[in-house]
Amino acid sequence: MSQDLDPTAPQGSMRYVFLVSIVAALGGLLFGYDTGVINGAIGPLTAHFELNDVQQGWATGCALLGCALGAAGAGALSDRFGRKKVLILSAVLFLISAIGTAIPKTVTTFIIYRILGGIGVGAASFSSPMYIAEISPARMRGRLVSVNQFAIVSGFLVVYFVNYIIALQGDEMWNVQTGWRWMFGSESLPALLLLVLLFFVPESPRWLTKQGRSDEALGILTRVDGARYAQAELAEITDTLAHESGSLKQLLQPGMKIILVIGIVLAVLQQVTGINVFLYFGTEIFKKMGSETNAALLQTVVVGVVNLTFTVVAIWTVDRLGRRPLMMIGSAGMGVCLFAMGLAAYRQATGLWMLLFILGYIACFALSVGPVTWVILSEIFPTRIRGRAMAIATVCLWIANYVVSQTFPMMDENPWLIATFRRGFPFWLYGAFCIVLFLFVRAFVPETKGRTLEEIERRWLQSARRP
Ligand code: GLC
Repeated sequence: MSQDLDPTAPQGSMRYVFLVSIVAALGGLLFGYDTGVINGAIGPLTAHFELNDVQQGWATGCALLGCALGAAGAGALSDRFGRKKVLILSAVLFLISAIGTAIPKTVTTFIIYRILGGIGVGAASFSSPMYIAEISPARMRGRLVSVNQFAIVSGFLVVYFVNYIIALQGDEMWNVQTGWRWMFGSESLPALLLLVLLFFVPESPRWLTKQGRSDEALGILTRVDGARYAQAELAEITDTLAHESGSLKQLLQPGMKIILVIGIVLAVLQQVTGINVFLYFGTEIFKKMGSETNAALLQTVVVGVVNLTFTVVAIWTVDRLGRRPLMMIGSAGMGVCLFAMGLAAYRQATGLWMLLFILGYIACFALSVGPVTWVILSEIFPTRIRGRAMAIATVCLWIANYVVSQTFPMMDENPWLIATFRRGFPFWLYGAFCIVLFLFVRAFVPETKGRTLEEIERRWLQSARRP
């Protein structure tokens, strides 16, 4: 009898898995919120503590250091204690950091609390997509993991807006004394929401099976995908786990090394193709192209809106078109726009051209490399070591993010580079990395659309066994 006709067979609930994914994606929202809050707050904060350049650099950069630390530490925790517990830990860190950065007496205390928040971001940045991937049915996994990227970008936009509203509440003096405290403190609301809601979502069924808690796993799989599929899925998960050693050394076996290489290279290329230069320094870039301050701020908001809008295209297409086509179309489009930007900067074309190419680049990133990198990272590693392995790739991603955001101003102000390439050099460099990304995906990244995590794993093993 088909499941549709059998009244006793519980149906899977799309609504349920969607709601659970949204709760986990709040971790992504906090990732964007925490990264973006510094934008509006750094001015009054600098005035309040009378920071010099070095201290200001630390106040902005220290969170990224925390992110790398958080990703490094939380991988092992998530394999050992569970995906949900690590998400709870990051929510607690977000909350402590929000309160601590709102009431610091000295800049050192501020920095310590910012690093704690960064650790939360680092942990959530890989735990949220991993959790979503492990609970989703294969046919909609890409879409649901991309919802996390949607949440990250929403976090950026929401905090720009919140900062703006707070800044309007008083004059400049008030903002230097109090305004920035509210900006950082406001993060406690989404953090608290995440913390509370996490108590209503289940643990990852794959992690539960690994722990020998198959009954609980079966209950969750049934709720997600219906009784008929759940049995088969559990059998497949159990069978696959039986072939895993649980040691990271598994990734060093001949033929399996390629997974780690793919994870790390994709993570680094997502960053060195320049996205965060536009998100962190967008306003400055527009000003250099001749925009007034207010127009530049508005253009930055437009960048955020385009980023969000085109992420929806990825959500729609990633499970239909697949990961590889999106990554290739996206990296090619980003590359073309970057070379055009470099040319516009070199020929000192009007700011409008620059704006158009930047928006084209952001749209291409948002429908591909932004979300799909996280999708692929969440699905290529074996279950027993997924936490640790994904964390390694994520640490590399955060370090690459740090290097790119440190070196862009240096390149942009370097007299020799300016004399030779005018201001085109960084864009051409990021464009060259887009070519590398395109070729790398074409040559090495397998299509994972529609396959269960276990099928993906089996294919690696088969290709590893092939001489
Ligand atoms: C991706 C990147 C992140 C970036 C974001 C912007 O999630 O990993 O670094 O800030 O996209 O959309």
